[in-house]
Amino acid sequence: MKKKLLLSGFVLVFIVTIAAFLTHITYNPDRTEALNPSHGTCSICHSIHSAPGQLLTNDAVVEVLCLSCHGPAGTATKKAEVHKNKSGSVYAPFQMTCPDCHDPHDDRANRFGGINLAQVGKKLDASGDAMIPTPNSGDRYVVFQSRGTDAGGPSMYSFADNDEDGDGYYDGVCETCHTAAANHRNNSSGNHAHYTGTNCIACHPHNQYFNGSGGGCTACHSSVKGSRRAVVGEFSLTSHHVLGGSVTDDDCGVCHYEAQGDHMDGNVDLLNPDTGGRLTPFVAFSRNTASDSLESWVTDVQNNHCLKCHDSDGATATNFSGNPLQPFSSADRDVPNVFAQFDTGNSYHHAVRGPGNNSYCNSNTMEPPWNQAGDHDVISCFDCHEAGGHGSANQRMLRTAIDLDTMEATTDKANLPAGMGATVEAFCTLCHKSSEYVSGGSNSIFEYHGTNQNQHGAAGGNELGCMGCHGGIVNMWHTKQGAPLPNGHARGNIHGGNFTWTSDSFASGTATEHFMVGGWISGWEIVGSTGYCRGGDCNHGNSSKNYTR
Ligand code: HEC
Ligand code: HEC
Ligand code: HEC
Ligand code: HEC
Ligand code: HEC
Ligand code: HEC
Ligand code: HEC
Ligand code: HEC
Ligand code: HEC
Ligand code: HEC
Ligand code: HEC
Repeated sequence: MKKKLLLSGFVLVFIVTIAAFLTHITYNPDRTEALNPSHGTCSICHSIHSAPGQLLTNDAVVEVLCLSCHGPAGTATKKAEVHKNKSGSVYAPFQMTCPDCHDPHDDRANRFGGINLAQVGKKLDASGDAMIPTPNSGDRYVVFQSRGTDAGGPSMYSFADNDEDGDGYYDGVCETCHTAAANHRNNSSGNHAHYTGTNCIACHPHNQYFNGSGGGCTACHSSVKGSRRAVVGEFSLTSHHVLGGSVTDDDCGVCHYEAQGDHMDGNVDLLNPDTGGRLTPFVAFSRNTASDSLESWVTDVQNNHCLKCHDSDGATATNFSGNPLQPFSSADRDVPNVFAQFDTGNSYHHAVRGPGNNSYCNSNTMEPPWNQAGDHDVISCFDCHEAGGHGSANQRMLRTAIDLDTMEATTDKANLPAGMGATVEAFCTLCHKSSEYVSGGSNSIFEYHGTNQNQHGAAGGNELGCMGCHGGIVNMWHTKQGAPLPNGHARGNIHGGNFTWTSDSFASGTATEHFMVGGWISGWEIVGSTGYCRGGDCNHGNSSKNYTR
């Protein structure tokens, strides 16, 4: 605009000299008009004869020229667009075209002697330092030497650094034109705290006309960001949230307030998926499994984040899909209702929503820190599952690896790979003493725990380990009795639940307790002071076996 007026006065001179220029320049080692190698030769943009554009460019409209390669159908890999109002914009209509920000010939020196990245700025002052012809503030210097902290560079001289060098001149490429925008104007007025010193393009890309999209989470957080680990890859681990699809920016927003604000403030801000409200911010998540006092953020995240989604109504406020039970973009499966499983009114439950009351779970039978002081401790999700919200190398995000998928897929116990039971035992004995339950002690009410007695232990051939009798996810009842009996097997049994033995079982009508459900067993009850159980493929498959209580 302003510049075109200036140039039009000299346009005749240019037409005369440019032919000489085009040939001369290529052979002149002292020329300042070096050509960026990406742009090959002068002739991709200029023709000496019959060039329709000003300055002998190959198109009358310069952005058509640029977009012939940088547009959707063009040959350049880097697609780009102009900068213009977003829909519903409060600003007077504007459209900044490619050469308003770029000099297609070369990267320009800036007023501090450095070289601007990505051909930003053009030579407008006498010494050739990079400037931008702004719509409202005349020609202004532009300095763009760093892509910002999140791209591994310094904040100073990045897209918008809030005059970090303190010379009173706002020269960032995303500052220098703005006089009305709410953020990052070319003077000290307005808000300069919006993502200052970071890579603006991640959320304000060319192909959205530089308008803020709020997203970009996955683009940035696929690598380490400052003190924060790389998170996107965690959604491709063995087990993870957003099953059956790739995690999207919208998925981050189902769990994180950062999609709305308070991002990069040093605190993780999680959402309550039922209210959309925020949890108390915390610096970084951790769980010290050596202590029986649960950290305040652990109980807060468990009760107001995990369990507000893992309940009967899912994520009523923050779901992305429109279906609260399948809140993520992959809409792969309904959210498991874990909240109900931990109900303290259930006939069996682990001590998450409230403590247990089994007097045999004491310092003789439990590993520290649990139940060491004659009390009944409460545990958290993160004493059994990994302390993270995204994914894990172990199935079901457990602290130790168990191949539950193979267990679920196997219908014939002869096909269960050996060693599986030992992995279950290794998991359960994080808290229940192996000296009691794996090698056999004298403090449990059940005298046949451990040893190789009747294949009760993994070492004796029990491939389901503890889950052969407790909280089993498979039904191993065998065909001697006809079809497998319903034995209450289900995922999440180890959290808790209710199961009453059916009329097919000798224990018909008995509500089972102590997680005696699923796995090998097909019935369990206590008569007087004697407990009776029956197993499917166990040694005592056809008759109940008793033990003294
Ligand atoms: C990628 C496209 C492109 C290439 C390649 C290119 N130019 Fe240009 N050139 C332009 C555009 C666009 C303008 C007009 C700039 C404007 O509108 O401010 C221009 C303007 C010019 C001008 C006018 C002065 C100025 O800098 O604004 C000269 C001289 C010039 N080009 C010479 C060359 C020479 C010599 C080559 C080869 C070494 C070359 N150009 C290669 C796009 C290109
Ligand atoms: C003939 C095709 C073609 C035309 C026309 C063209 N470009 Fe390019 N440009 C490329 C290619 C190829 C690259 C290398 C990167 C890529 O593949 O996208 C590139 C790279 C760039 C870069 C990045 C340079 C860097 O240092 O990272 C900028 C900025 C750019 N072009 C701006 C422009 C502008 C502005 C115009 C119009 C004046 C223009 N281009 C016209 C093909 C073209
Ligand atoms: C408002 C200023 C502005 C406008 C208008 C603009 N760009 Fe850019 N462009 C930038 C900035 C700043 C960068 C540097 C981004 C980075 O390095 O991450 C950039 C980078 C590029 C790149 C390199 C991209 C990459 O990924 O490395 C190309 C190519 C490009 N622009 C082409 C264009 C074309 C073609 C147009 C017009 C259709 C255009 N730009 C319009 C500011 C602008
Ligand atoms: C060549 C001038 C120019 C440059 C460079 C520039 N802008 Fe703008 N931008 C404007 C103008 C003009 C407005 C209208 C408001 C104003 O004047 O401050 C605007 C407004 C905006 C808006 C609000 C759009 C709307 O309609 O609500 C956003 C977002 C924005 N710019 C982002 C950026 C980003 C990000 C960069 C750096 C990559 C950038 N701008 C660089 C000229 C520019
Ligand atoms: C994490 C994503 C994200 C990053 C990074 C980001 N922005 Fe934004 N920006 C947004 C969103 C979303 C909006 C629109 C909603 C709003 O106004 O808050 C926005 C709005 C804006 C506006 C328009 C404000 C108005 O309405 O007048 C400007 C200007 C702007 N950003 C500039 C920048 C600059 C400059 C940077 C880099 C220093 C940057 N943004 C970095 C997401 C981001
Ligand atoms: C422009 C790159 C970028 C984008 C886009 C981005 N982040 Fe960040 N994020 C960062 C950086 C840099 C940090 C700060 C790292 C540090 O503190 O050391 C951060 C920090 C965080 C934190 C830690 C808590 C905090 O706020 O300091 C969370 C959580 C987070 N981002 C989530 C998101 C989500 C969700 C999105 C999408 C809405 C997103 N990020 C988009 C770069 C980005
Ligand atoms: C916004 C809802 C939501 C929140 C919050 C949530 N989850 Fe989930 N979770 C799901 C859904 C839905 C699934 C089913 C798989 C999928 O589609 O992601 C799931 C699956 C799981 C799985 C099983 C993964 C597998 O491999 O089968 C575990 C374990 C889990 N979540 C634990 C947690 C923990 C611990 C928290 C709290 C840190 C939590 N979830 C927070 C919705 C949620
Ligand atoms: C993070 C520690 C932890 C892990 C791991 C753990 N438990 Fe427990 N378990 C407890 C606590 C605490 C209690 C409650 C004791 C009480 O009554 O105070 C308990 C109670 C039990 C009970 C008795 C429940 C009742 O109703 O009487 C059984 C049976 C049991 N667990 C089996 C298992 C099995 C099988 C596994 C492995 C699949 C396992 N546990 C893994 C901590 C754990
Ligand atoms: C006592 C240990 C323990 C505790 C405490 C625990 N889990 Fe689990 N969880 C497991 C085990 C073992 C599995 C895999 C076997 C199964 O599904 O029963 C599992 C499986 C899951 C699954 C997958 C169930 C399915 O249907 O696919 C989800 C979801 C889950 N847990 C969430 C949670 C949440 C949320 C918490 C805290 C409120 C929690 N768990 C507390 C041990 C535990
Ligand atoms: C199911 C809910 C859920 C989803 C979906 C989710 N997060 Fe998280 N995020 C959490 C929880 C819970 C924590 C705290 C525990 C932890 O550090 O994993 C967390 C922590 C973080 C952290 C801090 C990591 C650190 O090193 O301290 C970042 C950054 C983050 N999330 C970014 C993202 C991004 C980006 C996405 C989308 C790609 C995303 N999250 C999706 C729940 C979620
Ligand atoms: C062969 C079946 C079987 C296997 C395998 C088994 N249990 Fe048990 N378990 C029982 C029975 C029966 C009870 C007693 C229930 C009752 O009457 O109170 C019991 C009780 C318990 C209790 C309650 C406290 C107590 O000691 O009385 C815990 C804890 C427990 N088992 C943990 C485990 C762990 C850990 C494993 C794996 C190392 C395991 N069990 C393997 C059958 C089994």
